[in-house]
Amino acid sequence: MSEEFYVTPWEVRGKVDYRKLLEKFGAKELDVDVVNRLGSMAGEVHYLIRRGFFYAHRDFDKILEVAGRGLPWALYTGRGPSGPVHIGHLVPWILAKWFVDRFGVELFFQMTDDEKFLDDEEATLKETNGYAYENSLDLIALGFPQDKLHIIIDTEDIGVLYKIALKVAKKLTWSAVRATFGFSDSTNTGLIFFPSLQIAVAFLPTELRGETVHVLIPAAIDQDPYFRLARDIAETLGYPKPATLYSRFISSLRGESKMSASVAESAIYTTDDERSIRVKIMNAFTGGQPTAELQRKFGGNPDICPVYEYHKLFDPNDKNIGEIYENCRGGHILCGECKALLFDKIKSFLKIHVEAREKARDKIHMYRLSAKLR
Ligand code: TRP
Repeated sequence: MSEEFYVTPWEVRGKVDYRKLLEKFGAKELDVDVVNRLGSMAGEVHYLIRRGFFYAHRDFDKILEVAGRGLPWALYTGRGPSGPVHIGHLVPWILAKWFVDRFGVELFFQMTDDEKFLDDEEATLKETNGYAYENSLDLIALGFPQDKLHIIIDTEDIGVLYKIALKVAKKLTWSAVRATFGFSDSTNTGLIFFPSLQIAVAFLPTELRGETVHVLIPAAIDQDPYFRLARDIAETLGYPKPATLYSRFISSLRGESKMSASVAESAIYTTDDERSIRVKIMNAFTGGQPTAELQRKFGGNPDICPVYEYHKLFDPNDKNIGEIYENCRGGHILCGECKALLFDKIKSFLKIHVEAREKARDKIHMYRLSAKLR
């Protein structure tokens, strides 16, 4: 692999070339045709797709075909609960919510507290399981109807997955898994089995309904290795190949290509207080000039600016976004002003989010798949 960047489900290093990554993984770029077809079926194209945050896929066109023919399909995504949720994590969940609303489909959501325990030397099961619950609050806060969101917490709900995971594991050789994930002799054996569990959920809807249910997985591009393997073995197990929709990584406020959950200053957590959000935004890297005078004269570069990127993430209004772009390019707005605007947007988003999050606290059980199956 090129040494300029390195992407696995557990690690992203360097400056990511999204085209090259697609070539390497073998997924496709979203083209105008698919996007237009989505628009005509849904009545609009969600801004996260329109603005290119979601940029690639496998068989998304087939899902549209399935939807068009009125055949059953469902969504699947998940989260490795290693800590509190930052606003970058919300991106695929926000899109999933849109699909739920527009197409009336259900979302299966996997909390991999097992994976995060296995993957991090220091992590305890108590911690990762606790975060599975805490992170569920952020998910529920996005407003999913209770009958459309099914949360699976791996360490507690293994019963619904285990038989499927065994069938998957039996088809996956060590050599395929090692090559796909870059495992080595020192990788613990829990992590080696784990991909079977993440793949299993893609087949769960079919098992539960007892008929073919196609599955669409919105996820960040680093999750592709799992679903590549899932697609390789799906049909031999009698399941439809899962389709995927991939997003770029959300930049950190420091300007790195991925917001890191381990560097607190580089990400905005849904649990941050107003003061620290303000500080993080005000200290953010920007595409601006070193001085106000130069900024007025030459304008800034929104295309490399995380502050502009966050405006695009949290403001659905295209007119606002176009104005910020032009004003930045033309030197009519300074970075401090632009950051203040962003702070206001994130503050209003989080005000609603945090309230909804607290309201969800005693309702998590209502969204658990295991409780609904009982
Ligand atoms: N492995 C993912 C992570 O570390 C969590 C996950 C489980 C997931 N199932 C998924 C992510 C399906 C996207 C789609 O975050």
